[in-house]
Amino acid sequence: MDGDATLALVGSGRTSILAHPAPKGGGCPSHLSESGLDVAALASRCISVSQLVIDPFAGSGNTLYWLLRTLPDARTVAFENDPLVYELSSRNLALLDLPLRLECTDFSAGLEHVRAAPDELVLAFVAPPWGHALDSRVGLDLARTEPPIVDIVESFVSDFEGNQMLFAIQVHERMEPKSLAGLVSRFDAYELMVYGLHHAGQNDGILMGSLGWTPRARRTPASRLSHLMCARLAWKTGSPLGP
Ligand SMILES: C[S@@+](CC[C@H](N)C(=O)[O-])C[C@H]1O[C@@H](n2cnc3c(N)ncnc32)[C@H](O)[C@@H]1O
Repeated sequence: MDGDATLALVGSGRTSILAHPAPKGGGCPSHLSESGLDVAALASRCISVSQLVIDPFAGSGNTLYWLLRTLPDARTVAFENDPLVYELSSRNLALLDLPLRLECTDFSAGLEHVRAAPDELVLAFVAPPWGHALDSRVGLDLARTEPPIVDIVESFVSDFEGNQMLFAIQVHERMEPKSLAGLVSRFDAYELMVYGLHHAGQNDGILMGSLGWTPRARRTPASRLSHLMCARLAWKTGSPLGP
């Protein structure tokens, strides 16, 4: 299938498996295409020679699709615990012939069988169900996603102790401050990027956190700024997010 083709539109009733528009050339960006570029740019600054991408909540595989477009040489493993979603996504992903292994299992059970080489960067894309974690008044409570984001990070830490890690966490433009501060304090360094693709208050973003390494601060290229609503940089342990 053409690399720019979108995933087939299918629905399970339990999770939305949607085809995100695939920007061609100057086409309209989605937060997935944008975040794929930002995550890959950050991963490329790690000294680990190769990458092991793990998506513990694969859903449709859309995120993986965008990540693998920018990290084509990464080894990739993904987990999905809903058999119907797994079945539909497996069929779609097979059409794209991507170099990934999708398993139908709970992510924590799946992680126990994954081994990383010592020189591999473990790159986790973390997008669990938000459940009731998103409140219109306070924003996304990262401690109330299902499971809480910090618990997911700790699962990776216990399974890949010794590896350099990069977490790319799907977040919302507005987040409950205490849960955000608690999460970022766990990282050696972190960066928050919110993509201004929708009306204010309705935008998604990516919180990237590193463990075992600290990237040097970078300047975001001008070509990327037009899609970015905000980029908060904080490459120091425990430093609070700026305004
Ligand atoms: C928000 S969706 C992920 C969206 C995904 N990034 C995509 O591109 O479509 C979360 C997915 O995680 C699955 N899930 C929920 N809990 C899980 C668990 N403990 N282990 C593995 N998958 C889980 C859900 O069935 C759902 O498909």
